[in-house]
This record gives sequence, structure tokens and C-alpha cells, in this order.
Amino acid sequence: MKIGIIGQGYVGLTISAFAGEIFQVVGFDNNARIVKQLNEGVSHIEGVESNLIRKMLEGGRYVATNVGSDLSDVDIVVIAVPTPLSPDRKPDLGYIDSACKTIAENIKKPVLVINESTSFPGTLRNYIKPAIEKYSGAPIEHMYAISPERVDPGRRDFNQKNTPRLFAGLTPEASKLTRNFYSKFCDKLVEVSSPEVAEAAKLFENTFRQVNIALVNEFAQIAHALGISVYETLDAANTKPYGFMKFTPSAGVGGHCIPVDPTYLAAVAEEHGAPATFIRRANEVNLEMSKYVVDRVQADNGGSLEGKSVLVVGVAYKPNVADVRETAAELVIEHLRERGAVVSWHDDVVGTWKSGSSAPLAGADIAVVVTMHDSVKAAGVIASAPYVFDTTGKLKGVHGL
Ligand SMILES: NC(=O)c1ccc[n+]([C@@H]2O[C@H](COP(=O)([O-])OP(=O)(O)OC[C@H]3O[C@@H](n4cnc5c(N)ncnc54)[C@H](O)[C@@H]3O)[C@@H](O)[C@H]2O)c1
Repeated sequence: MKIGIIGQGYVGLTISAFAGEIFQVVGFDNNARIVKQLNEGVSHIEGVESNLIRKMLEGGRYVATNVGSDLSDVDIVVIAVPTPLSPDRKPDLGYIDSACKTIAENIKKPVLVINESTSFPGTLRNYIKPAIEKYSGAPIEHMYAISPERVDPGRRDFNQKNTPRLFAGLTPEASKLTRNFYSKFCDKLVEVSSPEVAEAAKLFENTFRQVNIALVNEFAQIAHALGISVYETLDAANTKPYGFMKFTPSAGVGGHCIPVDPTYLAAVAEEHGAPATFIRRANEVNLEMSKYVVDRVQADNGGSLEGKSVLVVGVAYKPNVADVRETAAELVIEHLRERGAVVSWHDDVVGTWKSGSSAPLAGADIAVVVTMHDSVKAAGVIASAPYVFDTTGKLKGVHGL
């Protein structure tokens, strides 16, 4: 079987790597630079080794392309394109729409279309299928299924093989083929009764994280006001063997999922007249954390940051990845600059970002730690400035949440 995978980013390339062990994979991406790089055997995604890409290329099991007609003879096509928020923070299905157009214009025989991109319940049935049919012109009896991606980039203990995979087809035949496809490289498949349940489950998983992160972020502020350690309190609560799950405070949430997916759920809830109060408030609390952090830093530094050199340590949204999408570091930097601080940042995993590059870990008046990669030494951070504020809880003997 030949598998087309639309989007060769975090999700699409990861799937290509697993599917490429068994099937022939055509990795379609409209970014010519990524396509060129992949065909040279260079991975741009943590967790997908360049070695593996080279092996697949040499074995003739993988090719990257930005030419739509290369998808014409695939048997299954997987959609793995971004589903961001629009500037007014509404679901933006523009990339999905463009992927549907690519499928419709290039695949003229019936295939199985699987969506792995995260979106609101009803996307497969009411958006993807109609869009492909509209762009196809002549009717083609494709089959449709959803299997929301749960990959956690940079994570080593859970991957495509050992993370249970949810799926549902629009028809029993689509479900059967989907099971057959994923069972070749996933240990556990969980079929649900409709695509809407699978789509909603994915959104709820990330909303659960978002709300609990907001709760612990609020609790960090309460603990500080009470003069107790938030970390010691959380560790104490975590000794309860049931009914508690530990989340840790931070400067906010980042990445493609936690700040975005709950808003997809809230949007669809409100469209159906259902409340989404927790989701909306959790989003606000998480966004406000960056201001809280800078307020604390300012208060500790004589009430003014004017002219102070501040080094933000770690601008990736989480440790050990170079992903800066929706990173809380951006808001921290904005608040610092608004207060007159002279801000630079250190993050050798990210390297370059927003036309700037990683500064040395030294010589600042103040260091604010947003993300600690494993490669960063605690002693180096502590020595980088006379005042260090840690939002990660990983440094001992410095100021922090
Ligand atoms: N990154 C994660 O950890 C993660 C986890 C689970 C689910 N998801 C979901 O998976 C989806 C993809 O996310 P991602 O992190 O892989 O995004 P990404 O930005 O890393 O990759 C998307 C790729 O798609 C390409 N692309 C965009 N539009 C295209 C089009 N029309 N045709 C071909 N290629 C196109 C881009 O060039 C990019 O390389 C999103 O819905 C996301 O919410 C992501």
C-alpha cells in the first residue's frame, strides 16, 4: 500500500517515520524548503532521526514532495496540517481546506482519507468530506475516518507504537480499513462510535490539561500570598494515592495544542449554546501568568525594571524542543520591554527566533527562567545574573513561583 501524508511537520513526519517501516510513504508538504531538506535525509523534527529518513529514502519507502500529482496513486491519505486560531482567536480551518483541495485535485480514485489534525467535533463529517466533494467536481466515493494525533514531541516513553490510538470511520468499511492501517504500527487501537466522539475526546484531553494548569497557576499565586511554598504544598498533596494528579505552575502555556485546542472546544460549545466558562477563564489565567511573573520580578527589584538588562532563559514552549509556537516567553518578554527592561534571551535549542539569536548565558542584571532544557546547566543559569527568577521549579536557592 502507498500512503500519502499531507503535512510533514511534527505530526506528519512522525507518522511517516512509523508508516514508512511498513508502507511506501509519499510525504506531501507545500513548504519547498522542508521537502528539499527531507529528500536530502535531514529531519527538522525532534524525535525523528535523520538516520531514519535516510534509511527510508534509500529503501525507496519514502519520498517528500510538494507536487500534488505525486499523490495520485496513494491508497490512503492522511491529513496532518496545522489547525491554528485566526487573529480573532477563532478556529482557522484554512490549512485543512487547502489539504482537501490537494486531495480533490490529485486523487481521482476512491481512497481512505484519515484526518489526524486536531479540530472540533463535526469537522470530518461536515467540513472535510463536503470540501473534498466540492473540489473534486465529479463524485468519487472516498471513505473517511478520524484518528486524532496524540504525539508529544520530545517525549521518549510514549510514541506512536505504545500510545493507544482513538479512531472512528464515517462508515463501517472506513473504520475497518483505518484499524487495518494503524494496527501495523500501533499496539492498541480504540474504536469509538462516531468521528465526533474521537474529535471531542482529543479536545477534552487537552482542555483537561489547560484547566488544571490554570488551576495550579492560580494556586501558585495563592501560595505566594500565604507565604508558603507552592512546590512543597503540591508534593504534599501528591502523596494522596487517589483522586489527585500533580500539575506544576509555569509562566503560561505554549505550543500548538494547550493554548489552541480548548478554544476549538469553546467555540463549538458556544455555537451550540452550551457554556464554556472554565475553558475561557483557564485561558485567561494562563495568559495572565506572564504578567504575574514580571510583576514579581519588578517588585523584587526595587519596583522598577527601567534600563535593567534581563536575560530570559529558555524561549521554547517546553523543554528539549525548538518549538516556539505560542510560547509564554513571548509574553514575558513583551511585559519586560513595556517596563523599560533591555531584554535578551538564551536558548541554544531554538538558536534563532524573531530575527534575533540566542545570547550568552551571562552578564545580565536579572535572569528569568521560562524553560529549562536538559542541556542547560543549573549552575550556569544561577551564575548568569545576581537575581534569578525561576518559573520552572527546577532551580534551587533562587527566587521563583
Ligand atoms: N505538534 C504536536 O505536538 C501535535 C500533537 C497532536 C496533534 N497535533 C495536531 O496535528 C496537526 C498538525 O500539527 P503539527 O504540529 O504537525 O504542525 P506543523 O506546523 O509542525 O506541521 C504542519 C506541516 O504542514 C505543512 N502544511 C501546511 N498546510 C499544508 C497544505 N495545505 N498542504 C501541505 N502541507 C501543508 C506545513 O508546511 C508544515 O510543515 C494540528 O492540527 C495539531 O493541532 C499536533
